[in-house]
Amino acid sequence: MERNCIVGALILAAGKGVRMRSDRPKAMQKILGEPLLYYGLTAVHSLHAGPTAVVVGHKGSLISEYLGKSFPGSAIVWQHEQLGTGHALQIAREWWLSFSHVLVLPGDVPLITPDSLSRLIDHHCAMKAACSFISFSASNPSGYGRVLRSDDGCRIIEEKDATEDQKRVTEVNSGVYVFSVPALDSVIDFLSNENAQGEYYLPDILTLLAKNGHRVEAVRSDSETEFLGVNSSRQLAEAASCKRSEIIDGWTDAGARFQAPETVFVGPGVTLASDVELSPFVQIYGSSTIGSGTTIGSFSVVRDSVISEGCSILDHVVLESCSIATGAKIGPFAYLRDGAQVARDAYVGKFVEVKKSTIGERSKVPHLSYIGDAEIGEDTNIGAGTITCNYDGIRKNPTKIGNRCFVGSDTMFVAPVELGDDAFTGAGSVITQDVPEGDLAVARAKQRNIPGWGKKKNSRKNEGGN
Ligand code: UD1
Ligand code: MG
Repeated sequence: MERNCIVGALILAAGKGVRMRSDRPKAMQKILGEPLLYYGLTAVHSLHAGPTAVVVGHKGSLISEYLGKSFPGSAIVWQHEQLGTGHALQIAREWWLSFSHVLVLPGDVPLITPDSLSRLIDHHCAMKAACSFISFSASNPSGYGRVLRSDDGCRIIEEKDATEDQKRVTEVNSGVYVFSVPALDSVIDFLSNENAQGEYYLPDILTLLAKNGHRVEAVRSDSETEFLGVNSSRQLAEAASCKRSEIIDGWTDAGARFQAPETVFVGPGVTLASDVELSPFVQIYGSSTIGSGTTIGSFSVVRDSVISEGCSILDHVVLESCSIATGAKIGPFAYLRDGAQVARDAYVGKFVEVKKSTIGERSKVPHLSYIGDAEIGEDTNIGAGTITCNYDGIRKNPTKIGNRCFVGSDTMFVAPVELGDDAFTGAGSVITQDVPEGDLAVARAKQRNIPGWGKKKNSRKNEGGN
């Protein structure tokens, strides 16, 4: 079998996932910020560039929406009534008939590795089998189909249909199979639903194949955790915990440093350069990339952001879809989002929110500010308490602040408004009109001192008045 071009991969994700006790379809339950389905699809994709399809049904529009965004190359097969895993394979027949072999995996085995899939396919080819599947020894086999081996080959019995003796078998079915398509096609119509659950079981195909003299191979894996099937909340937590440790171990080996690795969460799509240092309780998800020598402080959360080399992200910083250039410093207690861009060596400090704005090279927004829909040039200093009043109740308006500006504390920029290069604002100003290059704008009530007023007030207080 020529591996790379003729194997279609089919992921079954139409089931209700009743045991999760959740409104969300099981395939969309998340581990480290990504749906369960992500993991199977990524393993399949890194194995081969062949066609992939996902069977969807229960709340399938949520899944197809996700696939359209994140895995647009995957075909979608609808199983409107979920009558069992075998039925899912029947429904997808038109799709898999165009290949010589089809790899089938459930959408609920997030710890699966491309290596195991590859080994399965290699074994299948070498043995010229009609079906090969991965089995493993489970210390607690409950919930899995048991593998029954005999002289005639092997078959799988579901737990609900098993005798007490069969239930004691600890070799179980991982739910991952590869089929020769002509053999599969010759038996798939003969599945029956006469069993404890009234479902068309995919594993019964193996019995049909064996009965027809085809070769069925169980490829035993040494790993128990890799094929953990997620059917309940508890199993979801268990899989998440395994995945988390696996990712952290991988980045530790690659040269990232963790003060307390057991407290740090890093998603599967994140990249950490060497010498990145993460303090306890950091979370990084999505497609984030962290550059070499960058440090991230405790309780900071980074999503879909690019942080370059040598940045200092202090404690309690939340970054969502941002880009932070080399040497920038952020935090503590800052929130940057929606495409915020911080240029080289710039500084966004304490209690500052930056939304859809750019902060130029070496510029500083050190304290207590809201910068929204703004463009700030280079070497500009933004005083404490500065706010861009970007929303007029209908639309969001832009603020432009030039290079080498000095914005006095507590300045309000009523957008749309511009401050030219080298311009200054007086503290407490409400800027409603553009300020030309090099000017100082003072826009606040003129101060009036009333002589002796305070003294008089205090002396009346001492006489018992108020
Ligand atoms: C299944 C296997 C079991 C195996 C275990 C491994 C069957 C009958 N049993 O049991 O032998 O040990 O996986 O984890 O196959 N699905 C559909 N359409 C359906 C029903 C299910 O697409 O009509 C999908 C589900 O969304 C899920 C996958 O198939 O991703 C497996 O279904 P699930 O209900 O989890 O089967 P298990 O009881 O775990
Ligand atoms: Mg399952």
